[in-house]
Amino acid sequence: MKRIELVLHNRAYSIQIEYGLLFRLKEILAEIAPGDRRFLLVTDEVVAELYGKRVLESFAGLLVDLFVLPSGEENKNLENLNRLYDYLIINGYERRDVLLAFGGGVVGDITGMAAATYLRGVPYIQIPSTLLAQVDAGIGGKVAVNHALGKNLIGSFYQPKAVLVDPSLLDTLSERELRGAIAEVIKYGVALDYEFFVFLEENVAGILEGDRFLREEMVARACELKAGIVRQDELDLGVRAVLNFGHTLGHALEQLGEYREYSHGEAVSIGMVAVFAMAEELGLVERGDKERVIALLEQVGLPVRLKGMYAKERIKESIGKDKKKSEGQVRWVLPERIGKAKINCIVPEKILDRVLLDLMG
Ligand SMILES: NC(=O)c1ccc[n+]([C@@H]2O[C@H](COP(=O)([O-])OP(=O)(O)OC[C@H]3O[C@@H](n4cnc5c(N)ncnc54)[C@H](O)[C@@H]3O)[C@@H](O)[C@H]2O)c1
Repeated sequence: MKRIELVLHNRAYSIQIEYGLLFRLKEILAEIAPGDRRFLLVTDEVVAELYGKRVLESFAGLLVDLFVLPSGEENKNLENLNRLYDYLIINGYERRDVLLAFGGGVVGDITGMAAATYLRGVPYIQIPSTLLAQVDAGIGGKVAVNHALGKNLIGSFYQPKAVLVDPSLLDTLSERELRGAIAEVIKYGVALDYEFFVFLEENVAGILEGDRFLREEMVARACELKAGIVRQDELDLGVRAVLNFGHTLGHALEQLGEYREYSHGEAVSIGMVAVFAMAEELGLVERGDKERVIALLEQVGLPVRLKGMYAKERIKESIGKDKKKSEGQVRWVLPERIGKAKINCIVPEKILDRVLLDLMG
């Protein structure tokens, strides 16, 4: 088992990573949340179908209820959050009781929102079941639901009591989910840690084939990198913006495709190539770095060029709407080399134009 301690201003919690941890949950919960309390296992219908019965059986002797949400991003809304409040109120959950967020980022974000607000805050534990949730959404305490007018508009910061990560859960993920989330894992290497990038270059084939030790190592190192950033900037007021590497163009592409054309990871993959191309034009990175990043993304089967279905001006307009825009300028996160990035960069329009045209060519 690998254990990462996340010590923040007024609280601390651990991220535990272990292959097969899911079936030791009862023992781990006895340690983290001892005493006489109720647990509510919140999950979605896909995860419930795959793992619900076995997990509940492993909880024998604990007071556990199951609450199942519909699966998918469109369900991360106030209506489902309200259904969860109703359940907690009707069933008399108290302040010492614990919510267990067992699922992808959607389940984690809704459960975290309920935990942050029900009775002005009850404990919750993240048990992330997708790669994206294991290395990103489950760590750092950002909780939210979407509003009809935009994603993640209703939210807060509320840290979990623990994050329990079982990489064996990745075995049942769809290929597209897995590969898309590897784009985010590659982002950690590219933006924060050269050695991790080299580890991915050397081992990505084994990771895709399902090698359990490599997957565990990948997840643990990515969690450490995310935790390192959260430690420095819990409330996302400064350096945490580095995690938006590749996301400025990525978000624009996701929005233009109405979240169907490109998955989040696919859009971020193209976004990462774009920022390397910009940094190359600006003389920030050495020639050859971009090609190494492209080669790794291609090995994972991620897109590295635009499919050519959007006009350059529409892409620029969508970039302009990005929430990281401040004082009328879009702020980019640009690489300085593989493993190091800087935030708040301004990119001249003619360079952006050239890079977009190249990506379409
Ligand atoms: N809070 C944060 O810091 C943060 C960070 C990044 C993303 N997010 C949020 O996370 C969400 C995306 O997360 P996601 O990619 O995990 O999406 P998701 O929760 O929708 O999960 C993706 C799909 O995988 C299924 N699934 C989950 N675990 C599975 C498993 N083990 N095997 C098979 N299928 C499984 C789900 O049912 C769903 O259909 C977005 O809402 C995003 O805003 C939050």
